[in-house]
Amino acid sequence: MGEKSFQLFPDAASSIAGSVDGLYAYMVLVSAFFSLLIAVLVVYFAIKYRRKDDSVPAPVDEHSIGGMILEIVWSVIPLGLSLVMFAWGASIFFTESKPPADAMEVFVTGKQWMWKIQHNEGAREINELHIPINRDIRLTMTSEDVIHDFYVPAFRTKADVLPGRYTTEWFRPTQLGEYHIFCAEYCGTKHSGMIGTVYVMSEPDYNKWLASGSGEGSMAEQGQALFNQLGCGNCHGSSINKNLGRCPNLVGIFGTTVDLKDGSRTRVDESYIRESILYPQAKIVAGYDDIMPTFKGLLTEDGLLKVVEYIRSLGPKNGAPASVPPSPTETTATESTTQPMGNAPQAGPGTQPRTGAKTGNR
Ligand code: CUA
Repeated sequence: MGEKSFQLFPDAASSIAGSVDGLYAYMVLVSAFFSLLIAVLVVYFAIKYRRKDDSVPAPVDEHSIGGMILEIVWSVIPLGLSLVMFAWGASIFFTESKPPADAMEVFVTGKQWMWKIQHNEGAREINELHIPINRDIRLTMTSEDVIHDFYVPAFRTKADVLPGRYTTEWFRPTQLGEYHIFCAEYCGTKHSGMIGTVYVMSEPDYNKWLASGSGEGSMAEQGQALFNQLGCGNCHGSSINKNLGRCPNLVGIFGTTVDLKDGSRTRVDESYIRESILYPQAKIVAGYDDIMPTFKGLLTEDGLLKVVEYIRSLGPKNGAPASVPPSPTETTATESTTQPMGNAPQAGPGTQPRTGAKTGNR
């Protein structure tokens, strides 16, 4: 992710980059040529045909053959030049919209404001995408909230990522290295921060990376480690009979609706947990004091999601610690792909089913 020195164009690191750049160069050259031609002629004619005395020039013969030929020429040539743009562009568009059948599958979930990526083999990553070089990669993408757009300039490709729908985008990386991922659709206050890095690796390195990833354990296990490491368990009970009193017990809380100090209610979902970790004073559960410090800066987005995942794994829908704290709430638990904007009910159990749901829906 090291800062590169200024460059006019991003790296051309995919199989399609060359033709996109070629078309772009053609369009720039055609536009530049005609802009220049017109600008020069405007000045030249203005001087040449300026009024010198009071004489009135002879009227132009509208029906002269010469004028007709001129008109045809200056219509047909630009038409031909723009049809080249059309045909060239369409050909690239069709290539980009048809992923090769044997492409490697990677799942991408956009979420305000991060990219969650899941490899078929089970490896997960946040705002990072590790892929092998010279393989066709097909991204199947969806959003948990609003419209995002997965854009890798170095691959010259981007596609909208929509809630309630799958979109695809494919590329074949041809150059090792690290490349930017951007969100190319304004999606809220932190749109500009919705960025990431693609790591194009050699096949052996990629396999090594995959293998090392799975050794870390599931997202929830890693979240639990962070939870313990940060001392969250000193206040928050995280097992059935451990109710410390000072802070809400987290067992069975995910997906329920809780009463807040200010009299309102809120649903315990990913966003709420995330908010409570970063801005604990924002929504305090009724009956508790404002004593929790912020963990902003202590957790990366990646770590945050792991902790959220861990808390989600504490139930109630997880089966493990069932029937613990009564949560008399509606809990609309559907892993839905047709959520409108806003908080998707993440009441699904741990990490696995979401993957399953995703693959299942395809
Ligand atoms: Cu996501 Cu802009």
